[in-house]
Amino acid sequence: MLRFSQNAKSMRSSEIRELLSIAVRPDMISFAGGMPNNDLFPVQELDDIYSRLSKAEKQVGFQYGPTPGHPPLLKSLAQFLQGKGLPVEENRLMITTGSLQAINLLTKVFIDPGEKVITEDPCFIGAITAFKSYQAHFCPVDLDEDGIILHKLEKTLARHADARLLYLTLNFHNPAGLIYSMERRQAILELLHHRSLVLIEDDAYNDLYFSEADREKTTPLKAMGKEPVPICYVGSFSKIFGPGMRLGWILAPDAIVKQCELAKQSMDACTSTFTQMLAHEFLSQKKLAEYLPYIRMAYQRRCRIMLEALQQHMPASVIWNRPIGGFYVWLKLPQGVDATEVLQKSLAEGAVFVVGKTFDPHGHRNDHIRLAFCHTPEDKIAEGIRIVSQAVGSFV
Ligand SMILES: Cc1ncc(COP(=O)(O)O)c(C=O)c1O
Repeated sequence: MLRFSQNAKSMRSSEIRELLSIAVRPDMISFAGGMPNNDLFPVQELDDIYSRLSKAEKQVGFQYGPTPGHPPLLKSLAQFLQGKGLPVEENRLMITTGSLQAINLLTKVFIDPGEKVITEDPCFIGAITAFKSYQAHFCPVDLDEDGIILHKLEKTLARHADARLLYLTLNFHNPAGLIYSMERRQAILELLHHRSLVLIEDDAYNDLYFSEADREKTTPLKAMGKEPVPICYVGSFSKIFGPGMRLGWILAPDAIVKQCELAKQSMDACTSTFTQMLAHEFLSQKKLAEYLPYIRMAYQRRCRIMLEALQQHMPASVIWNRPIGGFYVWLKLPQGVDATEVLQKSLAEGAVFVVGKTFDPHGHRNDHIRLAFCHTPEDKIAEGIRIVSQAVGSFV
């Protein structure tokens, strides 16, 4: 009889991971995965980058690299982040194997079993599973359309003064699709001032605003200059380059990143030098700057098609957000309708999405569904929404 650790026992498979195996069936219209469509990847640009590397550079790419990251990428990424007003000089930057590893490392270095993490409710499932795997105790706080609800956060902070981490996703939230208002951002900084709580600011969707006019709304808390609030800013190339690159980063005070480096040494020693090298060239040759407007437009189009179809087909008692960036529409079902029952109906007719309880840290609340518009071919979105709407309609 195998005897697994307490840690292993606290792990559960993400429902999304399991749904993805259904979602790839050719007859299924999928709104499940929060990832770019394969058609959108900059394959040609990467071909060009690779073929222009010298033999010696390619050899470096196949070698182990330093734990904090491939030095040229650390430089070009630092410049990219400085362009967002982030205090790169005053902090330390480290490359991670996806930003999920960044969240894992931070949890590992801050959380002992039973210690408290304050999260949003709903919350990114990857972060929930990471916190669970370190046996964190969850203190979830509800969201409204401007972000985490302040008076509830205040109450939670008072009740759980010993909480170690606060985890927030301010830009194009997964799954709620919202963006925090400027007022809410300011108020959070005020609230955190002079507390010992460490903030993980997960900004995986920062660059995915649809309109240039909204760019300023995405200003990270870390760039808003209220140190000494210890902010660990976490980002990713997954949504703006390709999740298969497995590249993310942490920008945080020196002492925190040093500790994460130690933790990473025993995890994977270093992130793939090969993909870091490609990412460096993609950044430094300004190819990312050319590629971003292209994907922003692609996602804006997909989002518009989805919103139009929802308007046309979804029962009037369902409420949803109108995203100005990111990947997600988050629908509140009419009272008494269970998202899993809707999913079963929808699956039988050929459309898949993720149910709300996946994103509830306690795994109960199931009155929402998440529709991702990023991965679905444009000509399939309206038909998929018709199916999902019909499935909802059968319970109303
Ligand atoms: C909010 C958020 N953070 C982090 C990630 C993880 O991304 P990565 O591929 O960089 O590990 C995701 C992926 O869906 C996400 O939605």
